[in-house]
Formats: sequence, structure tokens, C-alpha cells
Amino acid sequence: MLPQILSTLALAAVASAAVAKAVPPSLRGAWYKPPVALNTTDKFTDTASIVSAVQAQKVTANKVITNAATTISPSTPEGYELVFGPTNGANNAPGYMGFTFLSSYDVDACAHQCNTRGADAQGGACQYFNIWRAVVNGVPTTYTCSMYYIVADVSTAVNTGQGNLQVTLSRGYKRKNLAIDGGFEGYNACSFFCFDESYANWVGTSPAGGDFDASIFFYQPYAHSGNAVALLGSAEGSDALSGTLTAGAPLNTVAGKHYSIGFFHASSFSSPAEEAAAFVDVKWNGATVATIHPGFSNWQFFQFPVTAAGHDILSFHGGAAPAWSFLDDITVFQV
Ligand SMILES: *[C@@H]1O[C@H](CO)[C@@H](O)[C@H](O)[C@H]1NC(C)=O
Repeated sequence: MLPQILSTLALAAVASAAVAKAVPPSLRGAWYKPPVALNTTDKFTDTASIVSAVQAQKVTANKVITNAATTISPSTPEGYELVFGPTNGANNAPGYMGFTFLSSYDVDACAHQCNTRGADAQGGACQYFNIWRAVVNGVPTTYTCSMYYIVADVSTAVNTGQGNLQVTLSRGYKRKNLAIDGGFEGYNACSFFCFDESYANWVGTSPAGGDFDASIFFYQPYAHSGNAVALLGSAEGSDALSGTLTAGAPLNTVAGKHYSIGFFHASSFSSPAEEAAAFVDVKWNGATVATIHPGFSNWQFFQFPVTAAGHDILSFHGGAAPAWSFLDDITVFQV
């Protein structure tokens, strides 16, 4: 029996040695479990379902009259900017989150729908809406508010209607992102693979004795979208200290207004055992407003409400290599 027990133990030792330690991000390691990046051509506007819903509506005379004035030049909803319009084309664009009918041509009501829309698991929060009026047989019939997690523009506002239905008064509005360069795409010091602690828009800092505990990478396989992404935890795997990533300038927030901080997080670079302790503190003016403990996780969207003091400082603190955390597509939207 004894030799058999020994060989079993020896096999177990070999098996555990075979669980390779993660090659650190700085050495262009690979994900233990590659997360699925955002597909920016997926989930196009479901035009057919909108058209059939419009056709199911009964035309009422008061809809024609009540909106005559506001449709000419509605003022832009707070927290938004006009992207295009009015035109006679509705968006047919990716990142579609569905639509709702409004009782009038009310851009503020559409903005409210977008602000309160549940986040899409892949795409995150609503970032854009398209409002338009359907005219059926010459009669204004419905007011469509379509929502998107990808900002669209006039280039996809190509759906002018079909049959007896005409698209009119189509306007696109995008949410203002108070986080400057939340996707880190401004970091483009190379064309394939490079990383740094800081660049113009974000600053990474390490505690005493730490090295590259917060950094920004240009490397498409690490990113949720685009080519760049932020990393918390020693890029070289040389220490287990937690770094801090801070927006390069105070946010252009307004005191007393309410905002929502959104971001994507992935901690599937190392093995589940090594990533078990992954954490990120979301900080607003130095105070922790939330801490996430996602464990081993592919890209996941998080959002947390904050109230502005004005010129607020946004930062993220976390990572403890090999429990690395990647962050991407950070947004701060007024709510
Ligand atoms: C992205 O979505 C489109 C449309 O659904 C699909 O055809 C394509 O294969 C997807 N791309 C990836 C990389 O999954």
C-alpha cells in the first residue's frame, strides 16, 4: 500500500505544480478566462416591432394639437446634448435597449426613460435616445423614444418609415459623460502593446513600496471596448499592494446635482483561487462610496449613485496581485 500512497501524493504534487501562475499583465499574460468584449455591432434597432406597435395605435386628434409648439425647438434635457435633428430618419443602430411610446413629443420624458432604464448586461447604462414622431396617412400618431447603450448619430438615422408610416421630427440626444475619457482611449502611446502609470486623463499611484499598482494599458485583448483599459494591482505582479486610479482633473459636476458612476470590471485574469480576493473601492472626493468584491468575474457592469459637491474627484482603489482588476468604460451621468 505504501508505494501507492506515495505515488498518489506525488501525482497530486505534480498536478498542483501544473496550475501555472498567471503571467503578469505587464508581460502580456493571457486571461485565465477571456472575458467577452463589447460587441459594438450587436443589437440593432428592432424597427419591425416599433412599426407594428405604431400601427396598433388609434389616432386621436388631441395628439396632433398638443405638441405643435414644443416640437419646433424643444430645449435640450438636462444632462444631455443634441446630436442631430430634426430629420425624417429614425436611427437604425447597434446597442438598442428597446423603446417606449410617449404621450407627446416630450424630450424630457424620453431623457427620464433613458436615465431610469435598467442597464444592459453587455453594454451598461442608457447613453443615447432617439425621439421621433410617426405620421400615419398624414396624421401624427405616436411619439417613439428609443434607447441605446451606444451613442448613435445622424449617419444611422436612415429609417424614414414604411408603407403609410412616415418618420418625422427625429432627434438624437446623448448623455454627457462627466468622466473624461472613461474608456482610456486617449492613451495611445503605441499601436499594439504598452502601458504606463499615467497619461493626460488618468493618474495611477502606488502606495509606498508598491510599483505600478494602478496603470493604463494599450492592448486590445485586455479591453472591454476599444484598445485601452485600466488595471488595479501590480502590473508586474511584483507586490500585492493596492493602487489608486484618479481622473486627471476634477469633474465638471454641479453642486447638489445627483450623478451615477458606472463602470465595467473584470477579474478573470488569474485563476478563480487567485482572484477570490479581488476588490475595488469606488471613491468620490476621497471617500469610499462603494466597495465591490466580485471574486473571479468576467466583464460586469456596476453603477453607484453620488451627489456632487462640485468639481468632484473620482478615483478607484483596489487590486492586490495576482487578484488583478481591470476597469473600462467609466461613466458619470447626471440622473
Ligand atoms: C457581433 O454581433 C454581430 C451581430 O449580432 C454578429 O454578427 C457578430 O458575429 C458579433 N461579433 C462577435 C465578435 O461576437
